[in-house]
Amino acid sequence: TLVARLARPLVLVGMMGVGKSSVGRRLAAELDIPFYDADDEIEKAAQMRVPEIFDQFGEDYFRDGERRVIERLLDQNHAVIATGGGAFVQQQTAEMILERGIAIWLDADLETLLERVSRNDNRPLLRGGNKRAILARLKAEREPSYARAPIKVTSGKGPHGEVVARILEALK
Ligand code: S3P
Repeated sequence: TLVARLARPLVLVGMMGVGKSSVGRRLAAELDIPFYDADDEIEKAAQMRVPEIFDQFGEDYFRDGERRVIERLLDQNHAVIATGGGAFVQQQTAEMILERGIAIWLDADLETLLERVSRNDNRPLLRGGNKRAILARLKAEREPSYARAPIKVTSGKGPHGEVVARILEALK
């Protein structure tokens, strides 16, 4: 089967709001393998929410915890892992993912991202500023990093099922 052949975790990377967690959960269900959300795992390990970690300990501390959590998740050969938007931008974390997983860049246009991140206020990097401007800057800055992923799939406003189908197609 596809999953047996892969023998490496599928790692979703890309901007916040692109749908890594929802798409990842569906992809994992489709393949009948476990799903992990790196941000959730960080929150469990720290017993704190992501914005609280940023507020109390700063971004560098968060990135360090994020790298360690992802390192542990990469031990799973058959799994789908959704990462936070900044993970694959960190050199060491990216190297690890490229070496031990199959990175899939989930991309979407700015409007789609903006609509999705506007549903809640739990992204510390977007607080206290113009969300569109910050997102646009981060997207431009991060694109060269995301482009290192061997697979790229674009997600539109349509249902996540379509994106999942395109990922499965790309993996064949
Ligand atoms: C971040 C994205 C968030 C979370 C943290 C930092 C980023 O994850 O890890 O707020 O740097 O883009 P999502 O991509 O799931 O929103």
